[in-house]
Amino acid sequence: MLERMLSARRAPLHSDEAEVEDDESKTRKHISFAMRASTYLTRLGYLLPCLLLGVVLSCIILISTWSRRLACAPSSDAASRFSFFGFDGPDSDFGSLGVPWCRSKHGKTVQWTSKDLLKGLEEFVPIYEKRPIKNNMYGMGFDHSFGLWFMAQWLKPDLMIESGAFKGHSTWVLRQAMPDTRIVSLSPRHPEKYLKKGPAYVDGNCTYFAGKDFVDFGSVDWRSVMKQHGITDLSRVLIFFDDHQNELKRIKQALKAGFQHLIFEDNYDTGTGDHYSLRQICDQFYIRGGGHSCFRDSDEARERAKRKKFWEKAVDTDELCGAGEEWWGVRGQMRDNFNHSNKDISYTEHFMNSRFVESVLDVYWELPPVAGPSLTHQSRYDPARVSSPIVEDGRFGLFQRLGLGRLEPFVFNGYTQMVYLQISEQES
Ligand SMILES: C[S@@+](CC[C@H](N)C(=O)[O-])C[C@H]1O[C@@H](n2cnc3c(N)ncnc32)[C@H](O)[C@@H]1O
Repeated sequence: MLERMLSARRAPLHSDEAEVEDDESKTRKHISFAMRASTYLTRLGYLLPCLLLGVVLSCIILISTWSRRLACAPSSDAASRFSFFGFDGPDSDFGSLGVPWCRSKHGKTVQWTSKDLLKGLEEFVPIYEKRPIKNNMYGMGFDHSFGLWFMAQWLKPDLMIESGAFKGHSTWVLRQAMPDTRIVSLSPRHPEKYLKKGPAYVDGNCTYFAGKDFVDFGSVDWRSVMKQHGITDLSRVLIFFDDHQNELKRIKQALKAGFQHLIFEDNYDTGTGDHYSLRQICDQFYIRGGGHSCFRDSDEARERAKRKKFWEKAVDTDELCGAGEEWWGVRGQMRDNFNHSNKDISYTEHFMNSRFVESVLDVYWELPPVAGPSLTHQSRYDPARVSSPIVEDGRFGLFQRLGLGRLEPFVFNGYTQMVYLQISEQES
């Protein structure tokens, strides 16, 4: 490298000078090293000290930059991921903008560790390979299937409730996690209807509120359903929402019924999605990575534009902000029911929503993506807006050992920050 630097600096010789060098080269082997050195020193004259000084200065700059990077690296996972794709992590405003999250009341977190997640992945891959619905377009892909399975088998509930079944893939995942536990499934169209057209899953130990028996989660008489299923302790019930409804509304309904453990499949990032999500609700100025600038000549805007070119679901400033610079929710809208209903809300309302949610949150945990995008080849979600993957970029050996390399790349494309919540009534 040093050699190349020196020769590069010597490159702009006049052509006749180069010719002389060529001629000299023919005779070089006949003269001693000492003589050659002294000839060079004489020829270079004042250039040599300058060159040496330049080299020393470059080394000092390189070493100090490198050591500063080393010192910063562990504090910023996003930064290392940025560097992986050629973006400068610590220097990028998007790096510090980071990932929004919801604060829980007492800072409690989940009991499982990344080691548990890795062990879980190893166990889940062969299960997933046997899924009845191979291409679950519009439903969960691999990341969220794993997350749901992992949490259900870890929490071991006495009853599992699912809202939004589609063809029944998520019902099947719940069944794999808890083979003997009763499921209650709510969905306007019964999964058995899909069986006529292709693969679907109907569970034998499930109470379906579906088809003509459909009742929305918020209208179910949960007291009577719990009684019918012999449930006396509501902290033993796990609810899984994949019904694209306003998550604030769902949290209020769950609290009213006394449920504590909730999983939301689609936890859309600010500026995206068809319903008001936890991520959107909690995206605030005082949260690391929260709040946004609609200023089009800002570092955030530039970074967003850059990232949009790489990641399909990344949001640039034009998409993020409404006409009046509303960035919260989706351009100032609180969306509901697959965006069939949406309501403009003021920043104050949005802020109050976040205060309410945080006042009932005991735990907020986002499932990380299972593996980095260089491994999964996913191109949709922006890795700068998610937590560190379970299998980090570059860990190809581990990715293969876990069996993830056997899965088709399209199954990794549906990640939308699935989130697990533990909630309880506001203390008065
Ligand atoms: C994205 S799909 C669910 C995918 C499924 N969980 C899976 O992984 O395969 C959303 C489902 O929610 C259903 N849905 C719509 N409104 C609903 C509501 N109010 N309550 C429950 N489900 C609803 C839709 O009919 C659809 O089947």
